[in-house]
Amino acid sequence: MQRLFPSKPPPLPLSASAPPLSSHSSPPLGSPRRPRLGKASPLFSAHTRPERPPAIGSMGLMVGLAHRKLAHAADTLRARRLMAFSLGDTRVIVTSHPDVAREVLNRSAFADRPIKETAYGLMFHRAIGFAPSGAYWRTLRSIAATHLFSPRQISGSEAWRLEIAADMVRALGRRSFRVREVLKRASLNNIMGSVFGKKYELFAEDEEAREVQGLVEEGYELLGKLNWSDHLPFLAGLDLQGIRFRCSRLVPRVNRFVNRIIDEHRNRTGDKKSGDFVDVLLSLQGLDKLSDGDMVAVLWEMIFRGTDTVAVLIEWVLARIILHPRVQMKVQAELDLAVGRSRSVAESDVARLTYTRALIKETLRMHPPGPLLSWARLAISDTWVDGWHVPKGTTAMVNMWAIARDPHVWVRPEEFEPERFLSEGAGDVEFSIFGSDLRLAPFGSGRRSCPGKALAMATVGFWVATLLHEYTWRASDEAPVDLTEVLRLSCEMASPLTVTVCPRRGL
Ligand code: HEM
Repeated sequence: MQRLFPSKPPPLPLSASAPPLSSHSSPPLGSPRRPRLGKASPLFSAHTRPERPPAIGSMGLMVGLAHRKLAHAADTLRARRLMAFSLGDTRVIVTSHPDVAREVLNRSAFADRPIKETAYGLMFHRAIGFAPSGAYWRTLRSIAATHLFSPRQISGSEAWRLEIAADMVRALGRRSFRVREVLKRASLNNIMGSVFGKKYELFAEDEEAREVQGLVEEGYELLGKLNWSDHLPFLAGLDLQGIRFRCSRLVPRVNRFVNRIIDEHRNRTGDKKSGDFVDVLLSLQGLDKLSDGDMVAVLWEMIFRGTDTVAVLIEWVLARIILHPRVQMKVQAELDLAVGRSRSVAESDVARLTYTRALIKETLRMHPPGPLLSWARLAISDTWVDGWHVPKGTTAMVNMWAIARDPHVWVRPEEFEPERFLSEGAGDVEFSIFGSDLRLAPFGSGRRSCPGKALAMATVGFWVATLLHEYTWRASDEAPVDLTEVLRLSCEMASPLTVTVCPRRGL
């Protein structure tokens, strides 16, 4: 198969001070002649030539740890600001620079997402994450913002998080165990509680909980795969990776599962209604009313998005405090001072746990669950990025992982130092990770940023504080902490963290 572009993606010039590596140079930024990236550009015109055979472009970049490969390519080509390449028929631009990231994430021209076949197959085009940015998407976001993610709703579900935290604390204490299993089940229970009003026991053999966990895991596996036919249309009929087949088997199971819960809610009357998100969706009237199919898609997306990310992040936090006993001691000293050993942590304590919150931010900096911000953006019209013309239909990605490890942006970026968020140098206590400062925006930015961010941070902050207040954490003797990553839909630890814990409060 013939490559259309060199094996490494051709660079876009950095700025006037960094000359372009490509032979097709552009004028410095600010020049009245704006360079075109598109039909007139050598980058994209080659691949649109009809006489060329189909090509895979730089597909290898997106296999494995894509965030690391893209960062390396951007460094090698001195194209951190903006780099362009092709994935088969798909034009892609990637930025590893905070200023350009702001342009991409906040511009209305990038308000859609490239829709993958798997996302269609799994019904996500009818849910918030992949719906095109029109009236339907706005309605869904506003319903979720009001009834699931508002400060009032988040504090309303506090008791739920408290109960699950207590379940987790009780469940630990066995010698040497994989913490991921506990965290995933706890996150699932949490989201099933706020969305469906369902309570599962943390470790009881509950068939329904096992069923939904299986559905989520299969969905994750499918959506996290690079589907060749998304970029190579000539393969579309073949389903070589079996992804379409697996989606067609999964969707009826999801439909049955979610519809069963919707029916249970419909049949409840009066004070049996719990006011959870399913009740809210069922109560919508007029233009906001959703069909049953749309409701299934929206509810399924919430379980799907809410379950894994939180567990993945807490596992990274625990790995880091085990590797850095000094950090663990500082968190626990803070807890002793702010909470005291005579009682457990309350969610209201977290606001005073400055160092603990810095620990979580530092973990998000070094191990963002979505290093490429999970789901890319799509140019819905011709637009300009960093002085370059970007044609409609281009996929745009932000390499948040690369930005968060850039020595021009962060001091000693490879060091794990929660203190950086407390000092006056690189940041301060109030450094916002919610999208206003693109040096660290693990939840994205702009209109399509993560709507679940406040709920996620409330959960992670409270659970991390509880787990560290109740126990001291160590690696198990058999399995030292291994920070190797694997990029599925989220970026997880490749070897699940195996720990031993020792009670701190005389439990
Ligand atoms: C640590 C936890 C989480 C992280 C790191 C995370 C990260 C992200 C990122 C990077 C995006 C894409 C943002 C963009 O394009 O600018 C996103 C979108 C989204 N997230 Fe999260 N997320 C987390 C938790 C959650 C939770 C708990 C929920 C819901 C229960 C959720 C629901 C969503 C949805 C629905 C979208 C799509 C938004 C849209 O396209 O309009 N996320 N998330």
